[in-house]
Amino acid sequence: MLKDKVFVTRRIPKSGLDLLSKDCQVVVWSDALPPERQALLDNVRGAAAILCLLSDRIDAQVMDAAGSGLKVISNYAVGYDNIDITEATRRSIPVGNTPGVLTEASADHAFALLMAAARRVAEGDRQARSGGWKTWEPMGLLGVDIHGATLGIIGFGRIGQAMARRARGFDMRVLFYDPTHPEEKDEKTQAEKLGLNELLARSDFVSLHAPLTEKTQGMMNKEALDKMKPDAILVNTARGGLVDQGALADSLRSGRLGGAAIDVSDPEPLPVDHPLMQLENLVITPHIASASHSTREKMSLMAAENVLAGLRGERLPNCVNPDAYNKTLHR
Ligand code: GLV
Ligand code: GLV
Repeated sequence: MLKDKVFVTRRIPKSGLDLLSKDCQVVVWSDALPPERQALLDNVRGAAAILCLLSDRIDAQVMDAAGSGLKVISNYAVGYDNIDITEATRRSIPVGNTPGVLTEASADHAFALLMAAARRVAEGDRQARSGGWKTWEPMGLLGVDIHGATLGIIGFGRIGQAMARRARGFDMRVLFYDPTHPEEKDEKTQAEKLGLNELLARSDFVSLHAPLTEKTQGMMNKEALDKMKPDAILVNTARGGLVDQGALADSLRSGRLGGAAIDVSDPEPLPVDHPLMQLENLVITPHIASASHSTREKMSLMAAENVLAGLRGERLPNCVNPDAYNKTLHR
């Protein structure tokens, strides 16, 4: 029997590739950079499964290029805004993601960014290396307190809640905004649910943990940023598209906001000559919130398990479009 072809759009940690190699013909894109559009279209041809990254746009054209044998799309990420889910569902192709295993690592990084912005870690590093460290400064590089401050979490899913737990450990007060969350108060963290405007007005730190959807696209626009407390700090480890980056650059430049710390941008990478990159009060990392050794191994295994279930015609352990299994809905 001919083995199913699985196209993997980048080299991922070993655990998943080893698992796939037992039963499948695995084709891995081995360049450091993602396949360009044409290379992606060429390489998916005849694939029964695509294991892709958040930097690959998977749309109808890619599904067409793969052909009618395409049985499953497995994203090596928890977010899946890079995939045309409606189109996959219409074709009864289940799409998998990697929730849960990256929750704690992602919250760790979001909290690291919060702390870096509050205590000016990146600026201090730049100053120390560039000869700017002349003496002990009574008033140099003063930041803001984390303990006792209020953290507003936008999107109270797994990662948002993990962020709330960290904040409690630092004696912060926690607020959240999430229209899909059933409770008014989270018992574990004493986090309190609020409307968006009230949360923005009361928070010293605002951290984004919502998926990128039509509803959340650009939600942190000028109007929303203007509602934040003066000197507040914005943290974004979710998706760049949630924030109007021009408006953010203006707020940071004018000193209206105290700072921002972002792991995501739109586009990615953020060009080095982007206005945000010129600002001392911005901390930026290159989309690495889930990047711990053990988390990435777990994501690899989970993405591979989604592929294998899809190839066997079984339900994916983690499926984002269960409607793909509803034959009556889309025929
Ligand atoms: C990373 O951004 C992810 O969605 O896993
Ligand atoms: C999503 O919020 C996750 O933590 O997996």
